Amino acid sequence: MSSNAHNTHTGETCRLELGSKSYELPVITGTQQEKAIDITSLRAKSGYITLDSGYGNTGSTQSEVTYIDGENGVLKYRGIPVEVLAEKSDFVETSYLLVYGKLPTADELSAFRKQLTYHSLIHEDMLSFYDGYPPQAHPMAILSSMVCSLSTYYPDSLDPNDEEQVKRIVPRLLSKLRTIAAYSFKKSIGQPVIYPKNDLSFCENFLYMMFAVPSESYEVDPEWVKTLNMLFILHGDHEQNCSTSTVRLVGSSDANLFASISAGICALWGPKHGGANQAVIEMLERIHKDGGNVDAVIRRAKDRRDPFRLSGFGHRVYKNFDPRAKVIKSACDRILGTLGVHDPLLDIAKRIEELALSDTYFLERKLYPNVDFYSGILYRVMGIPTEMFTVMFALGRLPGWIAHWLEMKRRGEQIGRPRQIYQGGVDVPYVPLAER
Ligand code: SDX
Repeated sequence: MSSNAHNTHTGETCRLELGSKSYELPVITGTQQEKAIDITSLRAKSGYITLDSGYGNTGSTQSEVTYIDGENGVLKYRGIPVEVLAEKSDFVETSYLLVYGKLPTADELSAFRKQLTYHSLIHEDMLSFYDGYPPQAHPMAILSSMVCSLSTYYPDSLDPNDEEQVKRIVPRLLSKLRTIAAYSFKKSIGQPVIYPKNDLSFCENFLYMMFAVPSESYEVDPEWVKTLNMLFILHGDHEQNCSTSTVRLVGSSDANLFASISAGICALWGPKHGGANQAVIEMLERIHKDGGNVDAVIRRAKDRRDPFRLSGFGHRVYKNFDPRAKVIKSACDRILGTLGVHDPLLDIAKRIEELALSDTYFLERKLYPNVDFYSGILYRVMGIPTEMFTVMFALGRLPGWIAHWLEMKRRGEQIGRPRQIYQGGVDVPYVPLAER
């Protein structure tokens, strides 16, 4: 693919003094006036690298996909606030926006919906793969393996630098991840898989494959379809987070899209990232079972000698409310209210938020509820089992991963390869085994 990387150097420079020498480094300004010092040529000129473990201060790319203002709790996809999309769009339209860079026309949207509808089946042989997993296998392990395995069915669509091949597999992957996820749930509970139905919308079809059984008819509740669209939209993208950076890094080696996404799913699985939605509900259930002592939990979370931390709290970028958490919290209130469901876990979650946000430990560190804090409450009422929560996150995040992978290819980015400062032994002699 050809490179269309924008030259965003504006003429502003930064002077770096190192000993007796000084270096001029270009400054890059984003469309929202964010600034970066471009150090690409620093090592070649000076012999120095920069060190930033955890990349808290390192920009890995220039991107047009998503903008976050963590200080003010702002999140936009392609310039559109996520709250507006959550209210007015659906997941398919938002996926188009993320992947192709603009809102679709009516014709483009209907063609895209059609593609997602007609590519929903996976090769029948893949059904036997599910039998190889033990009954308690985590669905994220299955999801990642199945996505990688999917690549074996498209041997002539795996060249990441062939636009036609990539164009072919993008809608297929978007459509099939949903089927793979629903089948893994069915297999885990010993029920026959339910094949997708072409007269159902994207989210409707997913819920149908999850909850229908062959022995009776099943009507998908439109309220859950709406809620799922909203949740998937809110998870759609989040710029250079751990899993997206993984997808980009793997893809930068010219690994195919399936392999890159499979790696991203593994990165998302961790409880410090997408796995937090499962960890939150498990934490709330434990607190409920132990009598609901929220003060003790807050005390533990603040104790430096205790490794326990509040799941669903804190964020590398947001030093204010995560706008997604706000939308999901009010959806919890609205939906549970309409259904007349009283969930004690929601009460505990709100009490934790209330106590944390009036506690200097959390205030000083700017720790607020993140996207994972309330999402599990909705998934639970929907009937999604806890182990599937991170799979739900992956389904929502897929268009974001794809958008970043495509952007990286289009920009013709180099293979990702951080450097290091070596701190190990110097000239260590090899001691023969008998003398050690
Ligand atoms: C997601 O990056 C993204 O965009 C991710 C995501 C996306 O959409 O892709 O938004 C999705 O992954 C959300 C985050 C889900 N993870 C959790 O909810 C797990 C709990 N939270 C954390 O472990 C933590 O806050 C992180 C991993 C989210 C952020 O870690 P950072 O930026 O490295 O911050 P840190 O761990 O260095 O914390 C800074 C301070 C520390 O205290 P001090 O050492 O300064 O005294 O805040 C404390 C931490 O101990 N702290 C917490 C806390 N999170 C941080 N203390 C109690 N409870 C917490 N949850």
